[in-house]
Amino acid sequence: MIASASFLALAFAALMSLPSVVTSSSSHRTRGLKSNLFPTGFVYASGFTTADGVSVPGISHVGLNDSALHVSRVTAGLTHHVVQKNGKNAWEAVYANGSYHPTSSPLGGFGFYVGGSKSFVAATTAGAQEVLFSYSVMFQNGFEWVQGGKLPGGFGGEGDSAFHCSGGRQYDRDKCFDLRLMWRLNGTGEVYAYLPLTEKNNAVMLAVPPMADANPDYGFSVGRGSFKFPAGEWVTVAERIKMNDPSKTNGEVQLWFNGKSVINMKGLQLRNTSITRVQGMHFQTFFGGSTPDWATPKEQMSWFADVSGAVIRAHSN
Ligand SMILES: *[C@@H]1O[C@H](CO)[C@@H](O)[C@H](O)[C@H]1NC(C)=O
Ligand SMILES: *[C@@H]1O[C@H](CO)[C@@H](O)[C@H](O)[C@H]1NC(C)=O
Ligand SMILES: *[C@@H]1O[C@H](CO)[C@@H](O)[C@H](O)[C@H]1NC(C)=O
Ligand SMILES: *[C@@H]1O[C@H](CO)[C@@H](O)[C@H](O)[C@H]1NC(C)=O
Repeated sequence: MIASASFLALAFAALMSLPSVVTSSSSHRTRGLKSNLFPTGFVYASGFTTADGVSVPGISHVGLNDSALHVSRVTAGLTHHVVQKNGKNAWEAVYANGSYHPTSSPLGGFGFYVGGSKSFVAATTAGAQEVLFSYSVMFQNGFEWVQGGKLPGGFGGEGDSAFHCSGGRQYDRDKCFDLRLMWRLNGTGEVYAYLPLTEKNNAVMLAVPPMADANPDYGFSVGRGSFKFPAGEWVTVAERIKMNDPSKTNGEVQLWFNGKSVINMKGLQLRNTSITRVQGMHFQTFFGGSTPDWATPKEQMSWFADVSGAVIRAHSN
């Protein structure tokens, strides 16, 4: 009798605690998201996030829309509609069947530049020395990765030379940098870096485990296989960019995947004049590559949410 009464009491207690279990697991998720978007160990002077329920000192909430995020140079013929996806406000990328190139037919994915919130644009325009970008991404359930595709990352440079620092560009390579990510076979992850083509940069990039490669289009695959994108669930990436002092090779690029530091490059030269600065995120995704063997075999989708940026250090020296 006593045993069954205490069993009932236990069952009752378990039932009563259900709501608090739900609450604590969802606040756990939010806590996880918070440190996945804004890795611990840094003080964020200012910044923005489109993520709901993420409260970090100095970081303001902004809407996921083009005007709030100072979106520019949108690739014509592609869409980035805002949709509700598994509890998040997200930009939807549609990779048309057969697409494998950012600007030729059939077009797939999307491409634009994100300056960030108004105050973040002011901070980068003033020459912020160290910044963080982060976002969550989800690939459609059963996503067919084929050979790979591009994903958003930070970019910068000297004035308009910062734009289109990709696609095999060789001119003015000392005036720009582009730090998108890529998925490869089976969702294998890497940083796909365009940095000034100095011997030191090349050596630092090629030394990142487990695998790195200088591609024929002059982009470097860095840390390929240091993380892996799954399909059908949200994951979060964060990228820290520390500009070098113009006369030194003390720049840094670090990447976190779901809060875990997976790539950390030091001794880089992202510029040799202070005119070159971080300008925001190159928010681009497509299958490719630039040849048909990269093409998606069917229409597929991915979603991007929790778009965030932060200033870690406003000025050099
Ligand atoms: C964009 O987001 C801002 C908040 O950051 C909001 O004030 C504005 O209404 C939004 N615009 C649209 C078109 O949703
Ligand atoms: C520095 O900039 C100058 C002028 O743009 C360029 O010629 C030179 O190659 C650059 N040096 C490095 C190390 O990037
Ligand atoms: C990708 O996954 C397939 C099937 O699971 C496997 O056979 C193949 O070895 C994997 N390739 C790589 C590069 O991981
Ligand atoms: C994708 O396009 C190819 C080539 O046009 C076609 O053969 C194939 O049936 C298409 N796949 C789907 C799922 O529509």
